[in-house]
Amino acid sequence: MEIINISDILLEKLEGKQITIRGWVYRHRLGGGGSMVFAVLRDATGIMQATVKKEKTDEQSFKHASDAYVESSVIASGTVKKDDRAPGGYEIAVEKFETVHRGEPFPVAKDLSEEFLLDIRHLWIRSQKLTRIMKIRSTLIQAIHEFFQKRGYTLFDPPLLTPNACEGKMTLFEVKYFDSKMYLSQSWQLYAEAAIFALGKIYDVAPTFRAEKSKTAKHLAEFWMAEMEAAWMELDELVQIAKDETKFLVERVLEKHEEDLKFLGRDVAKLNSQISKPFPTITYTEALKMLKEKEGMDVKWGEDLHATEEEKLMKHFDTPIVITNYPIEIMAFYKPHDPKDPKTALCFDMLAPEGYGEIVGGSQRSLDVEDIVKRIEKEGGSIKDYAWYLDLRKYGSVPHSGYGVGVERVLRWICGLDNIKDTIAFPRTMSRSYP
Ligand code: 4AD
Ligand code: MG
Repeated sequence: MEIINISDILLEKLEGKQITIRGWVYRHRLGGGGSMVFAVLRDATGIMQATVKKEKTDEQSFKHASDAYVESSVIASGTVKKDDRAPGGYEIAVEKFETVHRGEPFPVAKDLSEEFLLDIRHLWIRSQKLTRIMKIRSTLIQAIHEFFQKRGYTLFDPPLLTPNACEGKMTLFEVKYFDSKMYLSQSWQLYAEAAIFALGKIYDVAPTFRAEKSKTAKHLAEFWMAEMEAAWMELDELVQIAKDETKFLVERVLEKHEEDLKFLGRDVAKLNSQISKPFPTITYTEALKMLKEKEGMDVKWGEDLHATEEEKLMKHFDTPIVITNYPIEIMAFYKPHDPKDPKTALCFDMLAPEGYGEIVGGSQRSLDVEDIVKRIEKEGGSIKDYAWYLDLRKYGSVPHSGYGVGVERVLRWICGLDNIKDTIAFPRTMSRSYP
């Protein structure tokens, strides 16, 4: 008998057909005074009810079916039947049932506390919730490639061991490197700025590391950033691309995963409406004014917008928004002064609605070597380590810009998840490094 995916049984309505599925026991109970086994089986594509009747199977099949545990691996053959009570509307009337590995009673049923589920994450990733999120993640990352490939960008892979900081010394992970030390990458950016002189327009999706001391629902110590960098590009065009990309990513996920999103409890109509309207752009100064006028909140000009301020501000928007021109004093060394308003930088953040916070950060890049040197020194960096980066401003320098999308941040918003930890199979945070 042909081995078939559970999703194909539902899709192709294989009623009356003889099929075989290979998978794991998802649910299990005995019925009919011990003469029947009601099992729900799971494979990578879905779940399906299977009924095993003593009188319809051989002795060994029935024993295997009755003795199986939740998560025992099994092969079941039988006839597809319509059953309106079954999830998906079909079930298998089993004729042959083989337990490949019975194993031990699965531990998850005992305790569903968040910490316990993180301790047994290697098993919990089999859950319907995490399986669906991992599939959406796969679509999201594929969509990032599609978006940039279609626009003629080249995929560029940066080094992940770096001699210097890109986003400040405070969040660097130090790694022993032979007889000296290196850091895990906080962003591909500085290397991307070198590569655009060869490749013009580039992008990547890569692991990113930050020793974040904050235990929030938004921060991971290891996350994936999808970055882009382009020569001959200024802030306005950059912001437009970030908006287009964000819309495109959500659209692609909606096309393919409406049912998964509903399973996760996501309000799909709301998400759809959030991306069907234009995303507004405001300046940092305008954001402060809104906070003052609409929320009675006093933020001193020059101070960063933290989670509370961002949440209050986003109460007044039902789409993502872009905020530009943050105060130069609180910005990284590579962000240039805006010549029209030199107290501010030619930079932007994109915030997601519903309190999901910052999802994208980017800027035009400073070409003013003297200013860069001053600001690296102010951040406590050593110019020696950045000599190569300054070289990029000495040989045919061009205006250029780039941004980074937090893959897990976007995924959390799309899926409507309480915590960023569920967007990645094996989360790494200050308090979580196992398994
Ligand atoms: O705003 P960030 O720090 O920008 C940069 O690193 C730039 N060098 C990017 C560039 O211009 N190429 O980070 C970019 C995005 C943030 O908007 C956020 O979505 C995500 O990365 N991010 C995190 N995601 C999860 N956990 C963390 N600890 C994150 N820190 C940043
Ligand atoms: Mg940022």
